[in-house]
Amino acid sequence: MNRRKLSIRQKINVAIFIEATLIAAISVFIFLTFKTVLSKLRFIEEFDDINISFLEMRKAEKNYFLYHDPDALTEAYHKGSIAYRTLKRSQEKLTSVLGKDTYNSLIQTLDKYLATIQNIKKPAASPEFASYLRDLGHNLTQLSTHLIKSEHRKINEIIHQSTVMLILSILGIFFSQLFRWHYFSTLLAKKLAKMESLTHTVAKGQFHEVAVQESEPEDEIGLVINAIAKMAQELEKREEQLLQAKKLASLGVLISGVAHELGNPLNNISMLAEGYLSYFDSLSDEEKKQFMKDIQIQTERIRKIVRNLLDFARQKKPEFKVCNPKEIVEKSISLVENQLRVSKIRLHKTFAPKLPSIYVDENQIQQVLINLFTNAIHAMSGGGDLFVDVYSPELKDKVVIRVKDTGSGIKPEILPHIFDPFFTTKGTKGTGLGLSVSYGIIKQHNGKISVETEVGKGTTFTIELPAYQENKEGANG
Ligand SMILES: Nc1ncnc2c1ncn2[C@@H]1O[C@H](COP(=O)(O)OP(=O)(O)OP(=O)(O)O)[C@@H](O)[C@H]1O
Ligand SMILES: [Mg+2]
Repeated sequence: MNRRKLSIRQKINVAIFIEATLIAAISVFIFLTFKTVLSKLRFIEEFDDINISFLEMRKAEKNYFLYHDPDALTEAYHKGSIAYRTLKRSQEKLTSVLGKDTYNSLIQTLDKYLATIQNIKKPAASPEFASYLRDLGHNLTQLSTHLIKSEHRKINEIIHQSTVMLILSILGIFFSQLFRWHYFSTLLAKKLAKMESLTHTVAKGQFHEVAVQESEPEDEIGLVINAIAKMAQELEKREEQLLQAKKLASLGVLISGVAHELGNPLNNISMLAEGYLSYFDSLSDEEKKQFMKDIQIQTERIRKIVRNLLDFARQKKPEFKVCNPKEIVEKSISLVENQLRVSKIRLHKTFAPKLPSIYVDENQIQQVLINLFTNAIHAMSGGGDLFVDVYSPELKDKVVIRVKDTGSGIKPEILPHIFDPFFTTKGTKGTGLGLSVSYGIIKQHNGKISVETEVGKGTTFTIELPAYQENKEGANG
């Protein structure tokens, strides 16, 4: 089932809605509690008046029994009537608080009390009325005092319960805020970290890795990630176009270069042949030999150009094999060891232990290394040190081969051209194809070649090749 996930904005809205509902419920609860407490207080206030009337009524009643003063009885009747009227006037309110039964029993008892006073007032009243009146009065004051006390107790209970509820609600809101804060900050931090890593990958020029990240967006950050992926796709396309344009441009350079490169020795051969023919009769055997030797040198030069040109143009698909990088480097070194000795160059080689394998065309990588060694030898005409280091960075996802010399270094103005075909500073001794062929080979191996140099101090070429991963041949080939 395709369940649509909530966007960040929707998630925030849901969280705010839940909290607002919680706050509204608490407010309603507080409002209702206040209302109940207030109505109970009003009741107490009102009932207090009745209670006072009852107490005064009983005081007059007691006076009557003590002093047999008929005025006291009238006073008791008067106070009882006031209480009766108040009870009747507030019937509705009192029934709502006391309940119908309690209210009725109260009013009936008072009614009987007043009737008993009337009976006592009659001449020759039965003495039983007196004790009846006392009992009724006692019941009335007891009931009213009990009611006031019970309402007080209820108010206390309500206040206690609301305090507990309030504390729990505040804690609830606090923890919900805490949860919301934690949830959103981790969510955002995680997504922003992904965005950061994607932009770093783009910055490193690894557009393809980012371009494939486009997917059904889960939320707003998903949309931004998709936008970055689209940008990477666009950059990848542009890079490809740029590469094509560069290739076309270098084709132009290549053609004029070929014409120029071949033109020189051909011209020389033609002149040599012409001279040879013109002066044939007057030339000594030694001179004739020299002419032929010169022609041979020029032909050799043409052969070298053609061979390098073939390497450059062949676009031969490399034949990939799982190889040990140390073995390839050692083999390449052995091919130039003689030259190193002649040129008085000390070799310093280091191989990191446990190097991962690489998936490469062994011959092509050797060709690259020999190009780099030869360039270094040429740059150290007066002798020097050649450092060859092979290692693998922490992740073991690539193998790095570093070739460092202590030679002349490369001038800043020519540095941007060293990988161009036919760019050479060695005149007729170089074809200027070594580095451009090397660049093409490393590129075909999904690797990188870079250079650091300082005039008068030396140059370091660094080659990075992806390590062989058993389940990911495609990534290596
Ligand atoms: N290690 C180095 N030190 C100084 N300069 C270098 C070094 N490597 C390359 N260069 C410069 O880069 C230029 C191009 O090098 P590249 O290997 O492509 O051609 P080349 O060596 O001149 O000719 P070829 O390799 O065909 O004999 C060189 O002519 C040289 O000026
Ligand atoms: Mg070279």
